[in-house]
Amino acid sequence: MFWMKCTVGIRGLISWIFLTNIMLILYCFIGSNQMNLSDSKEDTCPLSMEKSNSMGSPQPPKTECSPKTNIMFMKTHKTASSTILNILFRFGEKLKLKFAFPNGRNDFFYPSPFQASQVMNYRPGGCYNIVCNHMRFNQQEVAKLLPADAVYITILRDPVDLFESSFHYYHKAVPFTWSIDGENKLAEFLQNPQAFYSPEAFNSFYLKNILTFDFGFDNNLEADDPQVTEHIHYLSERFDLVLIVEYFEESLILLKDLLCWSTEDILYFKLNARRSSSVSKLDPELRAKALQWNGADWKLYQHFNASFWARVEAYGRERMNRDVQELRRRNEEMRARCVEGGAAVEAQNIHSRHLLPWQPIGEKSILGYNLRKDIEPNFRNICEKMLTPEIQYMSDLGVSLWVTKLWGWFIDIIS
Ligand SMILES: *[C@@H]1O[C@H](CO)[C@@H](O)[C@H](O)[C@H]1NC(C)=O
Repeated sequence: MFWMKCTVGIRGLISWIFLTNIMLILYCFIGSNQMNLSDSKEDTCPLSMEKSNSMGSPQPPKTECSPKTNIMFMKTHKTASSTILNILFRFGEKLKLKFAFPNGRNDFFYPSPFQASQVMNYRPGGCYNIVCNHMRFNQQEVAKLLPADAVYITILRDPVDLFESSFHYYHKAVPFTWSIDGENKLAEFLQNPQAFYSPEAFNSFYLKNILTFDFGFDNNLEADDPQVTEHIHYLSERFDLVLIVEYFEESLILLKDLLCWSTEDILYFKLNARRSSSVSKLDPELRAKALQWNGADWKLYQHFNASFWARVEAYGRERMNRDVQELRRRNEEMRARCVEGGAAVEAQNIHSRHLLPWQPIGEKSILGYNLRKDIEPNFRNICEKMLTPEIQYMSDLGVSLWVTKLWGWFIDIIS
């Protein structure tokens, strides 16, 4: 047993050194040709960014508003945000909108703070309709890319579930967790986080207040630090709508209302979901510890959960219930049309590589879908798009993802 653990440890260590070196080289290499672009003169973006003849954009009759097309979606980690991304990709593709994509990978050099120069083919003054990939939020830099009327949205999730998910997904990339013993590393960690955690440790932000970190703030602030309250205030001024994972359908209805979109635009299949057997249930004691450990995120979440429900009230509870029912009905319709067997399946049972989602290191726990074989021809296109995972969809939209792919290939070899 000891011997096995030892080999795993050494193998982990070697892979780890190799990985960091590759990534460092890549970072420097790509980073270097970007620096000279930033800080040059910036023009502000014109309000109307749409191509003058966005063909095929069906204008819904009898609406008083016109669909909003300038959108900043701050994609947080482990928050069903891949599902939202799919919605944005489809909408943007339909109206031929311009996305600000990252260069060579599917995030904007996370965890470095976002810089406009990280955008693929960026030139100062370049304007876009949609920014939606993972980033560490940096308001000034984002604003350079978008017209002033851009709608800012983001999504939050209960910090305990988020922490559990982030631990599952990323702990192998956080070296200090390698020394945690026992079957249940998550429980061991929560019993006494300070024994393992250090703010300076590599990738430590994945395991403490990751929401706060994603928004560009210090994730090591205690919940009662006045700065946390200031940050919350800052975000509530900047973001036009904060969605809540636990109320996903209600969130989409509010989104549709704010953006003046149609129900068709927000139809979705849950993407990037984890097999339920890989989700650890935390007992009340561990829950309490996880909450305390992620106190800043908890405060953030509670604030926006409350403002979310105030918006639902303003929208009308009855109206909301009706709209959620309608959305469910339409989603079910699509499920029956598109999905083989009507449900998500394990990674090894996905037939097409184009529909196989990205898997965490050393584990095939992310579910995906198969397209129905006898699909009606006029639904094939929409079904395919709705089922396409983030990485493949980005490739389809013309992003080269060589860094991400190289990484994936490497992970496959070591795990
Ligand atoms: C979020 O708000 C709803 C409605 O007020 C409430 O029922 C729920 O308990 C809140 N969730 C948290 C975690 O505070």
